[in-house]
Amino acid sequence: VGPDVIDIRKLYAQTGKFTYDPGFLSTASCNSTITYIDGDKGELLYRGYPIEQLATQCDYLDTCYLLLNGDLPDATQRSDFHKLVINHTMVNEQMQFFLRGFRRDAHPMAVLTGLIGGLSAFYHDSTDINNPEHRHVAAIRLIAKMPTLVAMAYKYGIGQPYMYPKNDLSYSGNFLRMMFGTPCEEYVVNPVLERALDRIFILHADHEQNASTSTVRLCGSSGTNPFAAIAAGVACLWGPAHGGANEACLNMLEDIQRQGGVSKVGEFMEKVKDKNSGVKLMGFGHRVYKNYDPRAKLMQETCNEVLAELGLENDPLFKLAKELEKIALEDEYFVSRKLYPNVDFYSGIVQRAIGIPVNLFTGIFALARTVGWIAQLNEMISDPEYKIGRPRQLFVGAASRDVQPVGER
Ligand code: ACO
Repeated sequence: VGPDVIDIRKLYAQTGKFTYDPGFLSTASCNSTITYIDGDKGELLYRGYPIEQLATQCDYLDTCYLLLNGDLPDATQRSDFHKLVINHTMVNEQMQFFLRGFRRDAHPMAVLTGLIGGLSAFYHDSTDINNPEHRHVAAIRLIAKMPTLVAMAYKYGIGQPYMYPKNDLSYSGNFLRMMFGTPCEEYVVNPVLERALDRIFILHADHEQNASTSTVRLCGSSGTNPFAAIAAGVACLWGPAHGGANEACLNMLEDIQRQGGVSKVGEFMEKVKDKNSGVKLMGFGHRVYKNYDPRAKLMQETCNEVLAELGLENDPLFKLAKELEKIALEDEYFVSRKLYPNVDFYSGIVQRAIGIPVNLFTGIFALARTVGWIAQLNEMISDPEYKIGRPRQLFVGAASRDVQPVGER
């Protein structure tokens, strides 16, 4: 407990009083050693390592190892971890029949919530959340199978055959092939896109006690199985105020583009500032960052690299996004509220350039965040102070009253 933190449990034990904090603006729900954010400085560290160094010097599986184990792997640990994950990339063949139960036009997040929860019906040796060995196997399975499931959901939606994983490729290269390869021809992984995707995964891997992570912790605190807890996180991530913002942001940019592009930015910004319009600048603002989200900076760089590689330097949506950002950063409305671009502002443009359909953006986020959810779940279960999560309420409804006979109500 830091100097500015009141341990409310002690206060409750002494006085029976509890706090009222809707939206948890000032409530720390746990101790954690995983991710540190300094919202004023715009700093993000995973296990002490700056996100900028991880994104440029490590790959996603290194980051997974770091989040799960507390430090980066040495050469042997790295190779063993890669082999372990690769061993689990296939999913049970029955999963495809489960998938076939969905409409082809189902939103991928609806499909993923179902498929991930459904894993617990297939892997009985990794469902006991209180057993460290079960949790370990579940962690590896989830990290390994998420790309396979996301790609299967995509292929199913467009009516193409599933691609089995090819385990001599990197984690991200394998995902690109499962998404865009076909059984008819050899798929050659573009190293720039592979690296860009890997960076997207690293930037989304964890972000301390956000809504979906808190959901995973709360769900897991009842002792449910790890697959069910992660499925709950996926469901929460779907919302446009959270992971769904990348999809909403791209839709917003496309809308402005359809209405006239950069020339319509001023008009759009007026709507955003009008509280009655209900319009927000998606991909802007954050509960914790009151400065530039460091992930957004890295994402903007990645955007430049990917668009240059694909000859899309003049991408109108990228131009539009940069114009919106420029105007917002000089506008009193955004400046006074400390609203800056968040990770979702540029990630959609990168994903769209890679060929990922807009409705799969949040699925990519879920894939990447799975490791963070598991690391947080492990940390919670291993904490000797861990209890089932059970918020209190301020009851403001009717006082006790008697049921009247139906004719007299
Ligand atoms: N556009 C316009 N105004 C905004 C925006 C925005 N994107 N974000 C916040 N504001 C305004 C609010 O209306 C509020 O104004 P007020 O003080 O006049 O009432 C003020 O800024 C503070 O915002 P809150 O909504 O109180 O901040 P909160 O911490 O509750 O919400 C959130 C944070 C949900 C991220 C919000 O900024 C938002 O909706 N942003 C757009 C959606 C988005 O990009 N979400 C992704 C977040 S990152 C992630 O999940 C990976």
